[in-house]
Amino acid sequence: MFTEVLVAVVIGGLILFLVQRSRSQVLKTEDGWWGVDAPPDGEEDGAIRPFKVTTSDEELEDLYRRIDQTRPVPSLEDSQFNYGFNSNYLKEVVTYWRNDFDWRRQVNKLNQYPHFKTNIEGIDIHYLHVKPKKVPDGTTAIPLIMVHGWPGSFYEFYGLIPLLTEPSNPDDLVFEVVCPSIPGYGFSEAPHKKGFDSVCAARIFHKLMRRLGFQQFYAHGGDWGWLITTNMAQLEPKTVKGLHVNFAPPSKPGLPVLLSVMLGRRFPKLFGFSDMDIQRLFPPLEKLGVEMIKETGYMHIQATKPDTVGRGLNDSPVGLAAYILEKFSTWTDQNFRNLEDGGLTRKFSLDDLLTNVMIYWTSGCIVPSMRFYKENLSRGLYPPHTKMQVYVPTGFACFPNELMHTPKLWVKQKYRKLLTFSAMARGGHFAAMEEPQLMAEDIQNFTKIVEKKKKK
Ligand SMILES: *[C@@H]1O[C@H](CO)[C@@H](O)[C@H](O)[C@H]1NC(C)=O
Ligand SMILES: *[C@@H]1O[C@H](CO)[C@@H](O)[C@H](O)[C@H]1NC(C)=O
Repeated sequence: MFTEVLVAVVIGGLILFLVQRSRSQVLKTEDGWWGVDAPPDGEEDGAIRPFKVTTSDEELEDLYRRIDQTRPVPSLEDSQFNYGFNSNYLKEVVTYWRNDFDWRRQVNKLNQYPHFKTNIEGIDIHYLHVKPKKVPDGTTAIPLIMVHGWPGSFYEFYGLIPLLTEPSNPDDLVFEVVCPSIPGYGFSEAPHKKGFDSVCAARIFHKLMRRLGFQQFYAHGGDWGWLITTNMAQLEPKTVKGLHVNFAPPSKPGLPVLLSVMLGRRFPKLFGFSDMDIQRLFPPLEKLGVEMIKETGYMHIQATKPDTVGRGLNDSPVGLAAYILEKFSTWTDQNFRNLEDGGLTRKFSLDDLLTNVMIYWTSGCIVPSMRFYKENLSRGLYPPHTKMQVYVPTGFACFPNELMHTPKLWVKQKYRKLLTFSAMARGGHFAAMEEPQLMAEDIQNFTKIVEKKKKK
């Protein structure tokens, strides 16, 4: 009897120890320096400088000259978007860009929110900082950092920002939003040294938020923004009050995920799989393999030799638009590949799509943006953060047309405090831009739950 009690106590203690230990696990990181040459002696320059997007006649003349000199390649008959961006439709997009798209007007739109730059670890970090005009008496605005991905930009959030900073429903929370550009994207300076990965971006964004005076805040992200904000939660779990993501492919599948892949179709209830989970997770195996190969080529190129293909895109606005906008078609709905126009304007306006392209074009950021994929692999397939769980309250918005479907069970394996898992009514990979209303609602729902728990 005594030995049994002893064994029970020892095992119990061991489990408690392991649980505690995993709770206290924090991702380790060291300061970096990404500027040219070696860091200067002395204090870091912590100045915050207002920034405005600008353009010039020369910039536009150069763009138009290059567009006019494009050398069209006819698409194959009946190929729609299956061979890549359809050439007939590309001609329409480019004609609009050349003749009707008003970049100066879009620049004014970009400048409707206050932009800033500040130097961190040797590079200039660009961000928007949008404060609410009005906060209800007795409350304070809720700080939220929102991080974009590839091939997107801070502009993806332009529809979402006002819904969060000036919500129309009086019961809604009022947010104060910070949207940085990932270093090497848009108006953030590109790192000059090798090795700038998602953990480095996460560390820099923590430094940014601290510099802005936030002790605690919420974070939202999709695509790379998902990984960067997840790393932020792993680096400083006490600083991130809540994490809201709309993308979360399992980076290192554990046993429960593997078991669910093997047995989930036969025993869906065992893994809590819904009909949609089954449908999306278990297409015919052959189709799965072919789809995977069809849609991941860009990743392989960018994770290996970004500087080669990137040079062509950096010289050709038409090539750049095709490369970027093909993703806005297929990643919004895979079936759009079978449409002559890639379904691009079903969910977005050409003005918005081209504004995102222009952010890549005018800043010349396509090569550094692609390098982020290479750096992501530079620490091997399973760097420490992939093996580590997240203990920050998390909300997951599951959009039906997301690239990789992740059922609740999978999300929970990584995010141990998953408070909300919402099956969203519509939307794909660029959900914040495509369905800002739904996204705002889900961020509201999630944040209210976290705030309520905190008060108790
Ligand atoms: C980046 O690396 C992580 C593992 O560190 C992996 O889960 C993820 O799929 C990679 N993403 C890309 C786009 O290569
Ligand atoms: C937010 O919560 C409300 C009330 O529970 C619910 O009706 C709505 O569907 C939720 N919205 C989203 C996008 O999850």
